[in-house]
Amino acid sequence: MTTPRLWLNGRLVDDPTTPVIRADDHGLVVGDGVFETVEVADGQPFALTRHLRRLHDSARGLGLDVDEASVREGVEAVLADRPARARLRITVTGGPSPYGSDRGDATPTVMVATGPLPDWPPTTDVAVVPWARNERAATAGLKTTSYADNVVALRYAHDRGAAEAIFANTRGEVCEGTGSNVFFEYDGALVTPPLDSGCLAGITRELLIEWLRDDGVPVHELATPMAALHRSREAFITSTTRGVQPIRAIDGAPLAQPPGPLTERAAAVFARRAAADSDP
Ligand SMILES: Cc1ncc(COP(=O)(O)O)c(C=O)c1O
Repeated sequence: MTTPRLWLNGRLVDDPTTPVIRADDHGLVVGDGVFETVEVADGQPFALTRHLRRLHDSARGLGLDVDEASVREGVEAVLADRPARARLRITVTGGPSPYGSDRGDATPTVMVATGPLPDWPPTTDVAVVPWARNERAATAGLKTTSYADNVVALRYAHDRGAAEAIFANTRGEVCEGTGSNVFFEYDGALVTPPLDSGCLAGITRELLIEWLRDDGVPVHELATPMAALHRSREAFITSTTRGVQPIRAIDGAPLAQPPGPLTERAAAVFARRAAADSDP
């Protein structure tokens, strides 16, 4: 990782640790914002077109306007030193606002930054949390900066020795992790929760489904009770920073096959296709 960089509302900030956000920014005050995390390798953002499309979708869900030209300018500015390996973080908030849920009429805050990418171990343990994702929430499926539920859930998982937390939705169906989607073996085939489970439309999830199907591997978007995940022989989570990461144990119970053949196939297909095209 090279030096972290920060671009805010049209200009590079010399020292990215300088305080630059106004105290009344609606993103800060009530979590009124959307964001994207993009992986950067050899100075190239991976799947930027898809990430920007999702940023627009999330923003539309909050009634926020995103100026794509401005976001792209920020991306170019923070990647000008072509970092070998970095996390690109794009955040757009409601901007300066009254201290309440009403948004003001200010221009949105646009922030683009680079930071270090986490180094994930080859497998992960996960813990199922006792709280639900609300698939009927106004913000279901949007990548908003209101992530406090995820903060609490991740701490719950860490307290139990796990590195990711898994949510069911209000119907008790498998939904997603705090920062990942979940895939698992069910009756011998690969399944993942459908988008109406309330999960985020993960970019890694959508690419993997497309690429596995191209390779003749069926993937079913299927609503299943949480018990199906517990019974699974193999499972993995996906995200921008993790790629395909096999699950070793769920709630302390090791899976039969960590990683099993479906997981190995998924990891291989993802690695091959991602290496072939940086903006699929
Ligand atoms: C709640 C949630 N689900 C799933 C994901 C995985 O999405 P992606 O593959 O686009 O990183 C993320 C990513 O951070 C997330 O925050």
